[in-house]
Amino acid sequence: MTISPVTDEHTAALVDFFLALPEEDRTFIQEDVGDPDAVRSLLATRVQQWVAVDDAGRIGGYVAVKSRPGWSDHVGDIRLVVDPAHRRTGVGRELARHALAAAITDGRRKIVVELTADQEHAVAMFATLGFTGEALLRDHIRDRNGHLRDMLMLAHFVDDSWGSMETLGLAEELGD
Ligand SMILES: CC(C)(COP(=O)(O)OP(=O)(O)OC[C@H]1O[C@@H](n2cnc3c(N)ncnc32)[C@H](O)[C@@H]1OP(=O)(O)O)[C@@H](O)C(=O)NCCC(=O)NCCS
Repeated sequence: MTISPVTDEHTAALVDFFLALPEEDRTFIQEDVGDPDAVRSLLATRVQQWVAVDDAGRIGGYVAVKSRPGWSDHVGDIRLVVDPAHRRTGVGRELARHALAAAITDGRRKIVVELTADQEHAVAMFATLGFTGEALLRDHIRDRNGHLRDMLMLAHFVDDSWGSMETLGLAEELGD
């Protein structure tokens, strides 16, 4: 898989990618990406976005870094999803690393990601990139069955982590 910034050329493949995802996985993106028009609108925004693409041009994963507005405009918000058929092959970690490096280069001082509290494997993956638990918000997510679930926010503090960038394998990506 090759990681590339999203361009207009990815629109059709990205619509297919999101439509093929289980509905629950689409919720991690937060926009209604089950609707092709919402995907087109998302691509038209200035949000930083990347895809993992195979040799045939099919998309296996997507990541975005959204900036928070106003007084939190130093905070980046990562949204990540990998096609279930491509999981456990390193695509998620590579997309997350890419998004983290780009957010830091872009001047974000804090990068956060929101998960349901039971996603131990995703928490483990983000921990390897220097994310730690920031907040647990009870009943903060309502899933598609209407059940309330706890939300976990993980955060990566850039200034605290700077010394360990090399350990995280990000120094090269950041041009050090
Ligand atoms: C979380 C997610 C992005 C991981 O993607 P992935 O491509 O499978 O991740 P990787 O293959 O890069 O795995 C990285 C590490 O995560 C952990 N991990 C990922 N999936 C795991 C699983 N099912 N069981 C145990 N560990 C797992 C492992 O530590 C793994 O490293 P390893 O393979 O060296 O042991 C993917 O499961 C997903 O899309 N989930 C739904 C959306 C989501 O949770 N997004 C994150 C919040 S926005």
